[in-house]
Amino acid sequence: MNLAEYLPEQQELVETELDALIPPESAAPGTIHQAMRYSLFAGGKRIRPILCIEAARTVSDDSPGVIKTACALECIHTYSLIHDDLPALDNDDYRRGKPTNHKVFGEAMAVLAGDALLTIAFQILAELTNVSAERKVRMIRELATASGTVGGMIGGQVADIQGEGQQPTAALLDSIHRAKTGALLRASVRLGALHAGGTHDEVGALSCFGEHIGLAFQIVDDILDVEESSDALGKTAGKDAHQQKITFPAVYGLERSHEMARLECDRAHRTLDVFGQRADRLREIADLIVHRKS
Ligand code: IPE
Ligand code: IPE
Ligand code: MG
Ligand code: MG
Ligand code: MG
Repeated sequence: MNLAEYLPEQQELVETELDALIPPESAAPGTIHQAMRYSLFAGGKRIRPILCIEAARTVSDDSPGVIKTACALECIHTYSLIHDDLPALDNDDYRRGKPTNHKVFGEAMAVLAGDALLTIAFQILAELTNVSAERKVRMIRELATASGTVGGMIGGQVADIQGEGQQPTAALLDSIHRAKTGALLRASVRLGALHAGGTHDEVGALSCFGEHIGLAFQIVDDILDVEESSDALGKTAGKDAHQQKITFPAVYGLERSHEMARLECDRAHRTLDVFGQRADRLREIADLIVHRKS
């Protein structure tokens, strides 16, 4: 199966599982479930869940239930987007091709929808049935750390917000991107590998892979903000310069940013050598992360 067939197939699997995991709109209180589902099913690329599933496949032919772990990652990611778009953060009106959560449901419900997606992510992991209790605790801890304040998503978001209008330095830029985006992408492959019972070395190799594609992912996100249209992205283009964000194009210019994304992709490829052909799909996903247009 080629990548163009594989991606929609995986996205469909993720949608179906998310639909089963998230309470229906008919469950009380209906508004919160409507708000959660609005952003969750607005059409994201599902890169994190797909990375999780594929990392599991790279270490094992059989990892039942990994789709649930994959969905937990998408819940955290979608929560981070809802909160990222709030007026107090990036103040965005447009996300995944639709009005942002707070534009439709109001700020209070958007804050709570984010909180609810964050909470359910850990419920999903706690309720996994195909992994041992010990491994589950490790996975919960990994996801919490990657989403947290020290080198994790929230820490990165804090530095991103506090960095607005500040003199950008290469070191600050690197740490913001590794934390706000890189940590969850790295956790996506680590959780997949852990779920599948990967060895210490396998988890370590995939961890390095995740770190490189994590950084590449946000470099490309910064580039797309400059080069693409809002219609193409499904979110407001050109906002980073307007909000004086610390980004790769702002520090290095576009040409060098493209080179740096490619360099991270090459490094990511090298980390997969130990897996031989088993990791071919992860190689394709790494290339997709760098060459994507949205
Ligand atoms: C956007 O992530 C936010 C970042 C962390 C850069 P994605 O580009 O994966 O967004 P969706 O999930 O496809 O909407
Ligand atoms: C957001 O980075 C990273 C998150 C943790 C959500 P951005 O602010 O650049 O993401 P977009 O461009 O709004 O999707
Ligand atoms: Mg932001
Ligand atoms: Mg933003
Ligand atoms: Mg961005």
